[in-house]
Amino acid sequence: MTLPLIPYPSTSAALEQPMLRQLGPNLYLLMFRLMKLVPAKFIIDQALARGKLPPGGLVMETSSGTFALGLAIVCCERGLPFVIFSDPIVDRGLRRQLELLGGEVCIIEQPAAVGGFQQARLDALDARLAAAPGAFWSRQYSNPDNARAYAEPADQLRAALGDRLTLVGTVGSGGSTGGMAARLRATGAACRLVGVDTFHSVLFGQPDGPRLLRGLGNSLLPPNVDHAAYDEIHWVSAEAGFNATRHLMQAEAVFAGPTTGAAHLVARWHAAAHPDETVVFVGADEGHRYLATVYDRDWLAAAGLRPDAPLPAQPVAAPRPAAAGGDWACFAWNRRSLREVADPA
Ligand SMILES: Cc1ncc(COP(=O)(O)O)c(C=O)c1O
Repeated sequence: MTLPLIPYPSTSAALEQPMLRQLGPNLYLLMFRLMKLVPAKFIIDQALARGKLPPGGLVMETSSGTFALGLAIVCCERGLPFVIFSDPIVDRGLRRQLELLGGEVCIIEQPAAVGGFQQARLDALDARLAAAPGAFWSRQYSNPDNARAYAEPADQLRAALGDRLTLVGTVGSGGSTGGMAARLRATGAACRLVGVDTFHSVLFGQPDGPRLLRGLGNSLLPPNVDHAAYDEIHWVSAEAGFNATRHLMQAEAVFAGPTTGAAHLVARWHAAAHPDETVVFVGADEGHRYLATVYDRDWLAAAGLRPDAPLPAQPVAAPRPAAAGGDWACFAWNRRSLREVADPA
């Protein structure tokens, strides 16, 4: 086998390429090392190509997670200055990487009365944009290029696994699951889409509240979530999601972040319940950032979670999204809008 040569600039080219692994007779993992680099790179390159971002122009975004890192890598490669608006939850390791890659990290210390830290970060970004006309805001939550960025991995999935797929993935901005399902369907594949969220996230109709399982879910409703794309929605608790993440490590030696663990919990159950379906779940990042939290029993216990709790065997079907609770719940969304689900005719 020849060694694949990754062309320059090679960091983003290497990181955007996922690996497809088989974990069971009808269960596959589409594993990215840093999934959010895919939309970050596409958004920046489209903006440069369309003249919305001049060469050397300033890039801004609000993020406390992996989209910021993806953007930082792309900006570093393209020679673009960038500012990330974040909040105290951002971990020191991520902050250090963003700064080493040439970024300014603006930590917003106080949440807004409505919309929490996310709204406060947006307010700070707005103020900075007003003072820096011509700066480019990548807007991962509303920029349609977020979802469009996933055409390539969707085409790769179809080429590898065929025309009938069930895709399971966590939902934050909605770009990855919505983008891959849209591309698969647009190119003639039959794709069942299963979205994974967490309790107290407003994305699929739960009341807003504090959440420990991060990367998925949201306190605000992003325009990029295309609700009518989803066949089924699951809500997974922090305890179940974190324990499933360590289970994935122990059972398969897959060292991934907690959104991958939550997606695995759902996908493994779905694959066993539907042996006729080809089930693929999305792995969004590696486990390094979570060694001191999800992978640390003392941290889990201090957070009030039970690291030894058995994984829930199956979800409880919720009568409506707002009533979903417990460790793991599901709801037949049936490709409806949020309004159609909230007010069924
Ligand atoms: C680690 C991780 N997993 C999953 C997701 C969800 O992906 P998407 O924003 O495409 O819905 C995110 C989003 O930020 C993430 O950071």
